[in-house]
Amino acid sequence: MAVNAAPKAARLSVAPMMDWTDRHCRYLHRLLSRQTLLYTEMVTAPALVRGGALHLLEHSPEEHPVALQLGGSDPSELAQAARLGAQAGYDEINLNVGCPSDRVQSGTFGAVLMKEPALVAECCAAMIAAQPVEVTVKCRIGVDDQDPEQVLPEFLAHIVAAGVERVTIHARKAWLQGLSPKENRDIPPLDYDLVHRMKGLFPNLHISLNGGVTTLAQAQAALQGGLDGVMVGRAAYHQPADILCAADRVIFGAGGPDSTPEAVVYAMLPYIERHLSQGGKLNQITRHMLGLFAGRPGARAWRRILSEGAAQPGAGPALVQKALNQITCAA
Ligand SMILES: Cc1cc2nc3c(=O)[nH]c(=O)nc-3n(C[C@H](O)[C@H](O)[C@H](O)COP(=O)(O)O)c2cc1C
Repeated sequence: MAVNAAPKAARLSVAPMMDWTDRHCRYLHRLLSRQTLLYTEMVTAPALVRGGALHLLEHSPEEHPVALQLGGSDPSELAQAARLGAQAGYDEINLNVGCPSDRVQSGTFGAVLMKEPALVAECCAAMIAAQPVEVTVKCRIGVDDQDPEQVLPEFLAHIVAAGVERVTIHARKAWLQGLSPKENRDIPPLDYDLVHRMKGLFPNLHISLNGGVTTLAQAQAALQGGLDGVMVGRAAYHQPADILCAADRVIFGAGGPDSTPEAVVYAMLPYIERHLSQGGKLNQITRHMLGLFAGRPGARAWRRILSEGAAQPGAGPALVQKALNQITCAA
C-alpha cells in the first residue's frame, strides 16, 4: 500500500470505536468495501511506549488502507508511539482529541485537549517529525462552555501550523462533566454548518465530517456540500452492509458489482477457520457480523443463532452456515 493511499480513502471512513473496530471487525469491513478507510480502536501511547503492548498494533495485511488512532498528550511519547505505528505498517496515524471518557480524561487524552491547542500542535509536530506516515487529528467542535465558533478555528489553525493536513471533526461538543461517553455521542447538538464553514476558512485542509451520519446518501450530500470526507461510526457497525456494500461505487466511483453480505459471509469462513486453528473463539469474530443482514427477512434468526451459539465450545463455520441458511431460506 502506497504511503499516500489514506487521503483518497478518507472520502469515506469507518470511525475508531473502542471494543468494536478491532482487527476482526476491520477485516469484515474490508471485505464489504475495498476502498473505505478503516480506523483502529484507540491505542494509548503509554500502553505502547511504557507498557510495551505491541500486540495492540497487530493487524492483517488485507485491512489496508488502515489508520492507527493514538491517545496521549506527551509529545515525545506520542512521537515514539507514532514511530511504532509506522513500523507496524499503518497508512495514517491519528490523534484522538474527541473522546470524553473518564479514564481518558484522567490521563489527559481525548476531548479535554480541545482546551490545549498549543499542546496538541506540539504533539502533532513531534509525531510528524518522528516518522514518515501522515499524521491526522480527530476532534470535537469544543468542550463544556467553550464557544465553538471561536475555539474550533483557533484549534485548526494551531494544528495546521504544526503540519497537519487532514482532520475529522465530530460535529458536536463534548461535555466533560455530567454526561457518560454514550450520552456525549447523542446529547450535545450536531452543528454541521460550523464544519462546512471551517472548510471555507481552511480550504487547503482536508476536512471530514463525523457524527450522526446514518446513510450513504447523507454522506454523499456532505461531500457534495464541499467537504472532503465523511466518517461513519455506529451506523457502519450496526448496519455495515447498508453503509459499505455500495460505498466503492457510490462514494469512490469504482466500477464492478457491489459487494453482498452473503458473499462476504462466505469470504469470512477461511479467516474464521484460521482464527479457530490459532486457538481463537468464533464469537470474537461473529459478534461483529450480527448486523450484516439488518432489516432483511431472517435477520433476527441470523443474530439469534450466532449470539446463542458462537460462544459454545467447538462452535465453528458450520454454525455460521446454519445462521446464513435463515437468510437464504427467508429470501
Ligand atoms: C463503542 C464506541 C467506541 C468509540 N471509541 C472511540 C475511540 O476509541 N476513539 C474515538 O476517537 N472515538 C470513539 N468513538 C466515537 C466515534 O469514533 C464517533 O466519533 C462517534 O460515534 C460519532 O459518530 P457516529 O454518530 O457516526 O457514530 C466511539 C464510539 C462508539 C459508539
